[in-house]
Amino acid sequence: METRAGDPGAFARFDLTRVDSPAFVVDAAALRRNLRILADVRDRAGIKLLAALKAFSMWRVAPLLSDYLDGVCTSGLWEAKLAAERYGGEIATYCAGYKPDDLREICALSDHVIFNSPGQIARFADVIAAARAAGDRFDIGLRINPMYATGEVPRYDPCAPHSRLGFPVDQLTAAHLEGVSGLHFHSLCEQDFDPLRRTWDALRPRLEPYFGRLQWLNFGGGHHITRADYQREALIEFLIAVKADTGCEIYLEPGEAVALDAGILVGTVLDVHANGMAVAVTDISATCHMPDVIEAPYRPAMLGERADERDSVRLGGPSCLAGDVIGDYRLPQGCAPGTRFAFLDQAHYSMVKTTTFNGVPLPSIWLWDSESDALECVRTFAYEDFRDRLS
Ligand SMILES: Cc1ncc(COP(=O)(O)O)c(C=O)c1O
Repeated sequence: METRAGDPGAFARFDLTRVDSPAFVVDAAALRRNLRILADVRDRAGIKLLAALKAFSMWRVAPLLSDYLDGVCTSGLWEAKLAAERYGGEIATYCAGYKPDDLREICALSDHVIFNSPGQIARFADVIAAARAAGDRFDIGLRINPMYATGEVPRYDPCAPHSRLGFPVDQLTAAHLEGVSGLHFHSLCEQDFDPLRRTWDALRPRLEPYFGRLQWLNFGGGHHITRADYQREALIEFLIAVKADTGCEIYLEPGEAVALDAGILVGTVLDVHANGMAVAVTDISATCHMPDVIEAPYRPAMLGERADERDSVRLGGPSCLAGDVIGDYRLPQGCAPGTRFAFLDQAHYSMVKTTTFNGVPLPSIWLWDSESDALECVRTFAYEDFRDRLS
């Protein structure tokens, strides 16, 4: 899978020795740039825009997100609690499968509680009723599966055959919408505008009979709105038209677009030797720090990587996993023990996915503002963070 991000932005002039290693460095100015674009789309289209915490939940910058967006979307109780504690605005929670004990609290914290099937809504009718009787005010939503695949990679395609994500829209009847205020779908991943338009064209005839009874539609995430070549004018026109056509409030809940190109992961070469080619061990682990490198898979772009083919080095992590390989790179200043380097576009879906497998230390978290050059160490992790997760 090719990543289409990877613009170094202001990181091109960031001195990597200003932070410890490994370290995530997030640029507040880059975040503001993304948030301004998202807020502009929201305002001109007259919709609501939530940030998906699953992609980026560095809550130190929560006040910044709250300045621009309408709130956040969460994936279950823990993210909903984080949202309520740290973020402002609306909270929309969707989880593929709720547990009764969690749901009671989720209803108290969320503005929208979105279910994966009408069966769950029916099974939890008593929890919902009890929450409302206790004064909690929230809408019930249903995630539908549009059954219209637009993705390249089945692992990231909620419309792949036999997907568990969302109620298949061809089974939807008026009875399923009893007590339901809105419909949600999420079927895109790092996509342009056209797949959204095609998905809606496929869905619209199936949903039209229900337009009068629905208050909102949530088109999920996967919209790469802040990428330079995304078709934002077409998106705005489309959203205005869908809102007028359906009479519904429209929500988008992008994650990646919030933090696109807004952070790097800084690492250090620990050792270099030859095994048919130059190989280097670094303090960045693909499996512990950037698991999507293996899972997606993709090759993260390197800050300042040389274009020529000479002196390619295979970089891998310090773990025991043979497959803990990041890729083959031409480091800007050559590759020797102690050399610093950085991978681009690591603010989203890396920080939220780190693990301490093999006792590999977690990267610290730094906040830089490329406009003022202010740099702050937000969080470091210690041995105790590793130990205390295990018993
Ligand atoms: C339900 C839902 N909403 C929003 C998102 C955010 O998507 P993205 O980060 O691709 O914009 C996801 C991602 O998996 C999702 O599953």
